[in-house]
Amino acid sequence: MAVKIAIASQKGGVGKSSCARLIAREFADNGWKVKIADMDIQQGTSFHWCKERAANEILPEIRTETFASIKQALKDADNFDLFIMDGAPAASAATREMAKAADIVLLPTGLSNDDLRPQVLLGHELIKAGVSAEKLFFVLWRVGDSDAEIQDAREYITKAGYRVLSGEVPDRTLYRRASDRGKAFTETTSASLNQRADKVVQSVVSAIEKISKRRAA
Ligand SMILES: Nc1ncnc2c1ncn2[C@@H]1O[C@H](COP(=O)(O)OP(=O)(O)O)[C@@H](O)[C@H]1O
Ligand SMILES: [Mg+2]
Repeated sequence: MAVKIAIASQKGGVGKSSCARLIAREFADNGWKVKIADMDIQQGTSFHWCKERAANEILPEIRTETFASIKQALKDADNFDLFIMDGAPAASAATREMAKAADIVLLPTGLSNDDLRPQVLLGHELIKAGVSAEKLFFVLWRVGDSDAEIQDAREYITKAGYRVLSGEVPDRTLYRRASDRGKAFTETTSASLNQRADKVVQSVVSAIEKISKRRAA
């Protein structure tokens, strides 16, 4: 059975697709059979990135397919070890359906209250829809250089009743440049930026390990 990760937010541009691609790349590099289900048919961001990656012959190859419905996407899930659903920006029925089907739901967010508020509200909505709070993990994305701001955001999320993955991904031009060439955030020209992105992946690995143990029990 595939481990299923859903990546969701109400807002666009918070880092869902970049996060999906980062996780896909790292697990694929460790020998997992991985697929990204791009649920944002308007943008198809991950789909286009994959084409760029293939054109530049970057390994490991990452498989991506665009799906109009979660039901359709899920039919394919168990052919893989890891199935990542890169959501459309919405707190819609499709977002709830995706979260329910997932083992882990990642909620990337920036640090401002304008970013945090809608993401916490989405968390509340998902729980109201029956998604277990245990599955939800906020991810700090596009952060600045202020440790105080990062700490405040962690507190905001924790006080709202949610967990935050350790590590955070800063907003950097080199990440964008890498993306534009079909690379993931661990494949930039900066070793330190690659390490920062990898720290977030390691927290996802820990979350998956916990879920797998619970499944096996
Ligand atoms: N950490 C980052 N640093 C710089 N640019 C980023 C970062 N994360 C995302 N971006 C850029 O921001 C835009 C939106 O990111 P994306 O991952 O597509 O978000 P979403 O899927 O939530 O809309 C893209 O142009 C992407 O390259
Ligand atoms: Mg996207």
